[in-house]
Amino acid sequence: MSDEKTTESLEAKLASVREWLNAAQNVMVITGAGVSAESGVPTFRTTDGLWRQFNPMEYATPEAFHQDPVKVWKWYDARRQGIVAAQPNPAHLMLARLEEQGKQVFIVTQNVDDLHERAGSKMVVHLHGSIWRLRCERDGNIVENREAPLSEMPPTCFCGEVMRPDIVWFGEELPWRPLQQIDEYLMEGVGGQGSGRIDVCLIIGTEASFGYIIELAVHAREHGAKLVDINPRLTDLGRMADVQLAGKAGELLPRIVNRE
Ligand code: OAD
Repeated sequence: MSDEKTTESLEAKLASVREWLNAAQNVMVITGAGVSAESGVPTFRTTDGLWRQFNPMEYATPEAFHQDPVKVWKWYDARRQGIVAAQPNPAHLMLARLEEQGKQVFIVTQNVDDLHERAGSKMVVHLHGSIWRLRCERDGNIVENREAPLSEMPPTCFCGEVMRPDIVWFGEELPWRPLQQIDEYLMEGVGGQGSGRIDVCLIIGTEASFGYIIELAVHAREHGAKLVDINPRLTDLGRMADVQLAGKAGELLPRIVNRE
C-alpha cells in the first residue's frame, strides 16, 4: 500500500467508497466472523475468539466428532443458542439495504449463522455450511433444524445414525453447491443478469486465512472491482485492498451506504 493510501484520512476514504457504491450495479461481498461480532456472535482468531478458548481439533474435525459426538454437539448447541438470541447489526442491515436499492448484491459468507438472511439479504452463499443444518454421513440426508437447545442430544437421523452439523470442518473439502453458485455468479452475475463485471467488492470482518478467500477477492479485482476491506485490524487482504477502512463493520457500513 502506498504512503498516500495509508495516510489518507478516514473521511476521505469513506467518501471515495460511498461514491463507488453509489455508482455500483454489481457488488460482491465477502464476510467473516467480524460482521457478526457486534451482534454478539464470537469470532475465532481474535484475542477473545473461540479458537483461543477451544482447541479446534477437539471441536471442528471429523475425528473429534466420531470420538465424542455429544461433546461436539454440546458445543454447537451452545453456539446455536447464542445465534438464535442474536440480532442482525447495522452492517448486515446496510448490506440488505444495498440490495433494496436495486443493486445486485452477492454475499459469500464464511459464517454459519443466518444473520445476513435475517437482515433481508437474498443472495447469500454459505461457504462453510450452516449451523441450522444437520447431515447424516450414512445416507447424506440433510435437514434444517432450528431447535435451540436441541431436543435430542445427539440428534439422530431416521436411519438411526447420529447426525453431524452441516459445517465444513478442518481437513474437509468445501461443499460443491456453494462453489457452483459462486462460479455461476462469477460468469453470469446474480440470476444470470450480469456480465461478469463486479464494480465493488466489500471484504468485511475476516482474517482471510484461507487461500480461496483471497482468490475470490483477486478474481473480483480482475473483473473490475474496487476492493474495500473493513476491519479494525490490517490483514493481508486489507493490505491488498484499494481502500482499507479501519474500524467496526456496524459503525462503518452505515457511513458508506446511501440511506435515502
Ligand atoms: P476470524 O475470527 O479468523 O477473523 C475475524 C476478523 O474479524 C478479524 O480480522 C477481526 O479483526 C475482525 N473483526 C472483529 N470485530 C469486527 C467488527 N466489529 N467489524 C469488522 N471486523 C471485525 O474469522 P474468519 O475470518 O471468519 O470456520 O474465520 C474464517 C473461518 O475460520 C470461520 O468460518 C471458521 C474458522 O475456523 C469454520 O468454522 C468452518
